Parts: sequence; C-alpha cells; structure tokens
Amino acid sequence: MRTLVITGGTQGIGRALALHYLSRGDQVIAVGTNQVKGEALLTEADRLSAGDRCSFLSADLSSPTMTIRLADRLRTEHPRIDALVFGAFRYQTKRQETAEGIERTLALYVLSRYLLAEELRTTLERAPHPVIVNLCGTGSRAGRLRWDDLQLRRRYRPFAATMQGARANDLLGVAFTVEHPDSPVRYVLHNPLFVNTGLAEPFRQPTRTAVSIIAKLFAAPVDRAIQPIVERIDTPPEPALSAFQARRPIDVTGPGFDPGAARRLTITLRNLTINGAAA
Ligand SMILES: NC(=O)c1ccc[n+]([C@@H]2O[C@H](COP(=O)([O-])OP(=O)(O)OC[C@H]3O[C@@H](n4cnc5c(N)ncnc54)[C@H](OP(=O)(O)O)[C@@H]3O)[C@@H](O)[C@H]2O)c1
Repeated sequence: MRTLVITGGTQGIGRALALHYLSRGDQVIAVGTNQVKGEALLTEADRLSAGDRCSFLSADLSSPTMTIRLADRLRTEHPRIDALVFGAFRYQTKRQETAEGIERTLALYVLSRYLLAEELRTTLERAPHPVIVNLCGTGSRAGRLRWDDLQLRRRYRPFAATMQGARANDLLGVAFTVEHPDSPVRYVLHNPLFVNTGLAEPFRQPTRTAVSIIAKLFAAPVDRAIQPIVERIDTPPEPALSAFQARRPIDVTGPGFDPGAARRLTITLRNLTINGAAA
C-alpha cells in the first residue's frame, strides 16, 4: 500500500486522483480548507470501502505557518510518503494578502509548494520510487516573474499573477533537483491543460455561469485528464526533473528553467517565510 498526499485533494483533479488511488487500495491524505468538501470525499471513500485509508486534513496552504504545521503533522504520522501531489490552487480575482502579509497567489501557488517539497523530502526519500507531481502551467509561454515586485503590489492582474506562479513553479522544479542532486525523488511538472473542474468557483455571477458553460463545452473531463498523471505517479520518469503538457514532454533546459533564476527564487521564498510582508 502506497501513501499519497494530495493538496487540493477534495475537488477537481486532486479529488479524482484521490478516488483513483483509494479504489486501488492505497492510502490518501487529502488537504483543503473546506470541511464540507473534505467530508464529501470521506463519504465517497466509505462508499468505496476505503474509509480507513482516506483522511482529510484541513489546512489553509496560503499560510506558510499552517503549511509548515501540516508538514510537521504529516512527517509525524507517516514514516513514508510515496507521492506528493500539488493541486491546491485558487484563482484570485482581486489582490489579497494572507495574515502574514503575503500576496495570496504567490503564497498558495508557489510558496506552499516550495515549503512542502522541502519539509517532506526526507519522508519521500524513504519510499522506493518517490515522486512529486506539481500540477501547474508548465509549457506555456505566457507569464514572467516580476523580480522587483513579486507580490504585485504596484499592479495586480489575476491572470498575470497566475502565470507568474506558473513560471515560478517551473523554477521550483529546477531548484529542487539542483539543491538535492542525490535525491531519489523525481520531480514532475504537469500541466493538465484545460480541464472541467472547479474553475468557475472563484468568480461572481454572471461570469461564474459563463466559465462553467465554457468548461463544460471545451474542457477535458477530469477522469481523462488524470490518466497521464496516474502513469507518472505509478512509474516516475527517469530524469530527476521532467515536465509535460498532458502527454507532451516539455524541454526543461530552456530559458524558463534557468538554475540561477531558480536559486534566486528560493532565496526570495525563504526570506518571505521568515520575514513575511517585509520581504
Ligand atoms: N483545471 C484546469 O484547467 C487546470 C489547468 C492548468 C493547471 N491546473 C492546475 O491543476 C491543479 C488542480 O486544479 P483543479 O482545476 O482541479 O482545481 P479546483 O477544482 O479548483 O480545486 C482546487 C483545490 O484546491 C484547494 N484549495 C484552494 N485553496 C486552498 C488553500 N488556501 N489551502 C488548501 N487547499 C486549497 C480546494 O479545496 P478548498 O476549496 O477546500 O480549499 C480544492 O480542493 C491546480 O494546481 C491548477 O493550477 C488546472
């Protein structure tokens, strides 16, 4: 029996992965903020006779304090983690800051993923074929890092914040493999492309209905979108770092994967964790 930790495991792609692995006999720890969604997952797990192998942990991963607390708990309760899947995300239509004073997209989409990978690395390394799957926007050319204003204080645009996060996640993959060259953990960046999930949730009406309709018409169903992810969890790729858009491999040596930029990012993220808004 393998142990998978899935952030955002209560909805969309994360939930579909959770149910897939529960039905296969594995143990799943799903992380989210909404108790109702967590309980719905547990009910579904019971229906699959997998209630004893499923847990829901409530944690707001946009808070670095809560993220580190979650990692401490996971390390204590699970001597070995086979797969760590990053699926927690929320599209921030307006600029918001966390209690620590950190812009929320950067905090949730980038900082929490950096912290969890670092904090859980040694627990993953006890597994025979450990893998981190970072569900992100790899392979897209859109977006850039505003190094002089990563928290977008001067001008916040939701799409720019998301795409900055996507570029930053590419660098997180590079940083992990550069900083831990001997680690057996394989780091997979995976862009599922357009998938019909909870995409409409952050929007107000009438945009919410419009996004739902567009997703129903044009996005891939979630059960199909998880197939290549399942393959990468079951048989992690050979290279330490790999990236895919659905099934298409992405070159991880291009300008978006610069080790110098990756190092710069992790230094910034460490400062942010220690100093919060002051960074
Ligand atoms: N769907 C797509 O078209 C698409 C395209 C490209 C990339 N992706 C990536 O794939 C991943 C999964 O996307 P999805 O569309 O399946 O997501 P989704 O349906 O919107 O679900 C998001 C999940 O994240 C959790 N979450 C949100 N804020 C959180 C927080 N502060 N702390 C902890 N958990 C939080 C939610 O649970 P709560 O509500 O309980 O907090 C929910 O379980 C994301 O990383 C996304 O960037 C998706």
